Amino acid sequence: MKRKTLTQYLVERQRGGQAVTAELRLLIETVARACKAIGHTVSKGALGGVLGSLGTENVQGEIQKKLDVLSNEILLEANEWGGSLMGMASEEMETIHRIPNEYPQGGYLLLFDPLDGSSNIDVNVSIGTIFSVLRAPEAAKTRRIEEVDFLQPGTSQVAAGYAVYGPQTMLVLTVGEGVAGFTLDSETGTWTLTSEKMTIPEDTSEFAINMSNMRHWEAPVKRYIDDCLAGEAGPLAKNFNMRWIASMVADVHRIMTRGGVFMYPRDQRPTGKKGKLRLMYEANPMSFIVEQAGGMATDGERRILDTQPSALHQRVGVVLGSKNEVVRVRGYHLKGQA
Ligand code: AHG
Ligand code: MN
Ligand code: MN
Repeated sequence: MKRKTLTQYLVERQRGGQAVTAELRLLIETVARACKAIGHTVSKGALGGVLGSLGTENVQGEIQKKLDVLSNEILLEANEWGGSLMGMASEEMETIHRIPNEYPQGGYLLLFDPLDGSSNIDVNVSIGTIFSVLRAPEAAKTRRIEEVDFLQPGTSQVAAGYAVYGPQTMLVLTVGEGVAGFTLDSETGTWTLTSEKMTIPEDTSEFAINMSNMRHWEAPVKRYIDDCLAGEAGPLAKNFNMRWIASMVADVHRIMTRGGVFMYPRDQRPTGKKGKLRLMYEANPMSFIVEQAGGMATDGERRILDTQPSALHQRVGVVLGSKNEVVRVRGYHLKGQA
């Protein structure tokens, strides 16, 4: 069977309408190439000397792994010179990265979590890269790009995707016309279309949450998980299964494949009040992908994509996945307020 490549998939959309411009196609292909390079680096493991920590902290106060920094550099270098971008922002950089003057400026902004699931690097468990593409505001084209230009709600994204470095290396992408999944053919180095239209089942009996935080959760989350754990005899009248990989990319990919509900909620710790996951690099791109696959994403009460960001590294509570289950979790939150 002759399968389409990522290039063919994008060219079709470029010809078909407004979703993909030539500039956006080049940008997505460049990001995909960088992900291929990151995947290759990841797979070398100890042989490539890429495991372990650097001993430095990022702007979020998290210890940086060698692969966090390497992946960030790969994405920056790959995307700097192509002419599609005005700037980039990353979980691993304190402030935005402007395209140097020696290169042509383009109309887009790229945001990324270069290496998601850092705690899984050294234990050989799936990790990934998450990215989001915004249009640079018109006003920014006559001056230099500023941090505020990146602070657009998730509804403004023109593309988003993630790569997962697991048993297979995959790229999952939306340009706002559904979600497509590509598997890297390691023999030819080609991103090959393997799922034309990924859809999340509306119902599920599988949840993903870090249960060790239970004592810190807000009451609605605690009530919901208690009801899941009560199984058939409880108010939800069905038995639930649980999975927690601790790489958002891998947990979301499972949900994209067989459904489920993923939660990293706000909690009552001083560090958890705003949630753990980052709006611009994790929650927004994943919410765009999940919605495009027929799922839903909220912070508990509100649609994540409608959030007006106030800071680049802002955090947010996340509940996403199978539509009917996310509606149910939102119901627990809204009832709690009454
Ligand atoms: P990152 O490695 O980019 O910092 O992200 C890790 C995130 C996310 O991938 C995952 O869902 C979550 O942190 C896991 O957190 P816990 O270790 O608290 O379970
Ligand atoms: Mn992450
Ligand atoms: Mn990361």
